[in-house]
Amino acid sequence: MNITLRQLQVFEAVARHLNFTRAAEELFLTQPAVSMQVKQLEEQVGQPLFEQVGKKIHLTEPGREVFRYSQALNNLLTEMQMVLTEMKGLQHGRLTLTVASTANYFLPTLLGVFSQRHKGVTVDIDVTNRENLLRALTANTTDFAIMGHPPDGLEVESHPFLSNPLVVLAAPEHPLAGHRNIPIERLAAETFIMRERGSGTRAARERFFAEHGSISFSKTMEMNSNEAIKQAVQAGLGLGVLSIHTMEVELMLKRLVVLDVEGFPIMRHWYIVHRQGKRFSAVAQAFKEFVLNEAPVLLKVPSADLA
Ligand code: PGA
Repeated sequence: MNITLRQLQVFEAVARHLNFTRAAEELFLTQPAVSMQVKQLEEQVGQPLFEQVGKKIHLTEPGREVFRYSQALNNLLTEMQMVLTEMKGLQHGRLTLTVASTANYFLPTLLGVFSQRHKGVTVDIDVTNRENLLRALTANTTDFAIMGHPPDGLEVESHPFLSNPLVVLAAPEHPLAGHRNIPIERLAAETFIMRERGSGTRAARERFFAEHGSISFSKTMEMNSNEAIKQAVQAGLGLGVLSIHTMEVELMLKRLVVLDVEGFPIMRHWYIVHRQGKRFSAVAQAFKEFVLNEAPVLLKVPSADLA
């Protein structure tokens, strides 16, 4: 038997409509061209596939069998086309991410693996603080935000994928280093170096102290980057509260220590967040699945022996 795909496609349309004219219209062919394809298929099969009763055509028994297989083939072809289109999207797509500045300590590791798998994909990243993240989500100008606390009052879907402990950091020579269970009130006398307004780390720190006795700190300083805060703490200017993700290297080199303060670490999570009902490109969908399935395996949360 020498059956062609084209013959089966034409036959499938005729069998579905039980009408040569309608099948010809659907396929943008003339009716004689449709009849010719069906006739050639019947010759190959060696049996009639349609029979005419009055003005109507019907499928014969072999016709019904051929119809079943041609439908299955058609479905497979459609599926193949979908898969191929998706693969094309995955090879040349674009992904936009808006990322909390603190998340940038682990994001390169994730993007390294993702980009290796999808070499043609371009990733636009905006590293910014929480306030700007919320703006990007509100304006729907980003595929995903990676942030420490999903926004309230905005219709979003958010999924936690990694833990994010916030700790009190100090220089190794600090007088409180080595103390156990330091009472929170004991910190009131210390200078604190805080992140800028709009930072999620700062908001979490403020929430924590408000919930634990509303301590008022006599001396505070403000810096708008985690790096600047770490340098200042190392130089003995004061204490800081930062995500442990920012401190992997300094902890390893013992340039900073984590203080054992009651109630700490503040346990938070990293979330991947997007607008509810957002229509994803193939790349965006692949990125979301990648983060949720693989980030917990690829990334490790730095651990600290308490000073
Ligand atoms: P950020 O971190 O302080 O860099 O804005 C975000 C967060 O922890 O929510």
